[in-house]
Amino acid sequence: MSGTSLDGVDAVLVDFRSDGISLAKTFFLPYDDALKSKLLALNHPEYDELNTAAVVSNRLAHVYAAAIKELLKDNAVSPHEITAIGCHGQTIRHCPEIEKKYTIQLVNAALLAELTCISVVSDFRSRDLAAGGQGAPLVPAFHRAAFMDSSYRRVIVNIGGIANLTYLDPSAEVSGFDCGPGNILLDAWCQRHTGKHFDNNGDWAATGNIIPSLLDKLLSIDFFSSPPPKSTGRDLFNYKWLESHLRNELPEDVQATLIQLSTVSISQAIQTYYPNANEIYLCGGGARNLHLVHHLKKSLSGMKVALTDELGIPVDWVEASAFAWLARQTILRNPGNIPAVTGALGERILGAVYSA
Ligand SMILES: Nc1ncnc2c1ncn2[C@@H]1O[C@H](COP(=O)(O)OP(=O)(O)OP(=O)(O)O)[C@@H](O)[C@H]1O
Ligand SMILES: [Mg+2]
Repeated sequence: MSGTSLDGVDAVLVDFRSDGISLAKTFFLPYDDALKSKLLALNHPEYDELNTAAVVSNRLAHVYAAAIKELLKDNAVSPHEITAIGCHGQTIRHCPEIEKKYTIQLVNAALLAELTCISVVSDFRSRDLAAGGQGAPLVPAFHRAAFMDSSYRRVIVNIGGIANLTYLDPSAEVSGFDCGPGNILLDAWCQRHTGKHFDNNGDWAATGNIIPSLLDKLLSIDFFSSPPPKSTGRDLFNYKWLESHLRNELPEDVQATLIQLSTVSISQAIQTYYPNANEIYLCGGGARNLHLVHHLKKSLSGMKVALTDELGIPVDWVEASAFAWLARQTILRNPGNIPAVTGALGERILGAVYSA
C-alpha cells in the first residue's frame, strides 16, 4: 500500500490460512525525494504526462518489488508460497464525479509480477466506479472482517493523507465515507515551512494558535456539508487550495488550524452520522500524531477513543493488510466493495489479476 501522503510503501505479509488475519512480517520503504516530487507533479496537468506516468509506473513496480523482496529476505517464505500480491498502486488522480468518473493508480503490475514471480492483483477501484460508485473508500469491508464485534458500535477512523470512516454496528449495514483531509495539508504546510516531511507528533502545531476565521473558511466548502457517499483526494485538498485561503498568518498558527480542520471534520462526521457509536478506533499514520489524537479525544469526549493496536493490528499496517485481504477477495472471486459505502449499483469482484 502506498497512500495519498506519498510517504512510501507499507508492505505486509499476511497469513489467512487459519481463517484469521495474522501479520507475519512488515516493512516500510520510504519514497526517495525524486520519486515523491514526480508523483506530486503528476497530480496536476503537466507537459508529456502520459510518458512521465508510464515511466513512473515502471519505477513504482521496482520500488514495490524491493519492499516485497525485503519481506521475503530471510528465506522464511519463498515466492511460490505466496498466493498473491495486492498492490493498490499510487493514486495520482481521483475524479469520482459523474462528469469524469475515473481514478488513476499508477503501477506497472505486469512488471511487478515479472520482478517477483508472484501473481499481482491491482486496479482495485475502477470496477466500483464503472458500477456507478466512488471507487472509494474500499477499506470498510476489511474493517468489517477484522474489527466487527457483536457487543460494540465501532467507528474505525483511518487517518492517512485523507481521513475515512467505517461504521461497524452489529445490527446495521456497514457504512463509511471519506470525511476530509487527514495528514495531506499538515504534511504540505510542514514541508514548506520547516523542510521536514511531517510534523513529528504534531509538536510544531502545538506551538501555534488556532485561527478561528481561517478554520471557518476552510470548513465552508461543499465537500464537508455534502452527504455520503463521498470520496476525495489531492484533487481537492492540496497546497494551492490551502494557499488560496491564506493572507499573512504565522506558519505555526496555520499548522495549529490544520490540526483543528482534521479534528473538526472527523469528529463532526462521527457526531452527524454515527452519534450512537460507543468506541472509536484510530489507525493510519495520523494516529501517531499525538497532538491530533489529543484534540480528537477532547472533541469526542464521551466516546472511547483508542488505537487499532488494541484490536490486534497496529495503526501503521491496517491499510496494507486491507489490500492483502482485498486481493484475497479477488482471488476467491468474492466481492470487495460495499455498495452502501461507495454508492455502486451492487457488489463487484474488484481488481485485475496478473498471473505469475
Ligand atoms: N510520529 C508522527 N507524528 C505525526 N505524524 C505522523 C507520524 N508518523 C506518521 N505520521 C503521518 O502519517 C503519514 C503517513 O500515514 P499513512 O501512511 O497512513 O498515510 P497514507 O500513505 O496517505 O495512507 P492511506 O492513503 O492509505 O490512508 C505521514 O505522512 C505523516 O503525516
Ligand atoms: Mg503511507
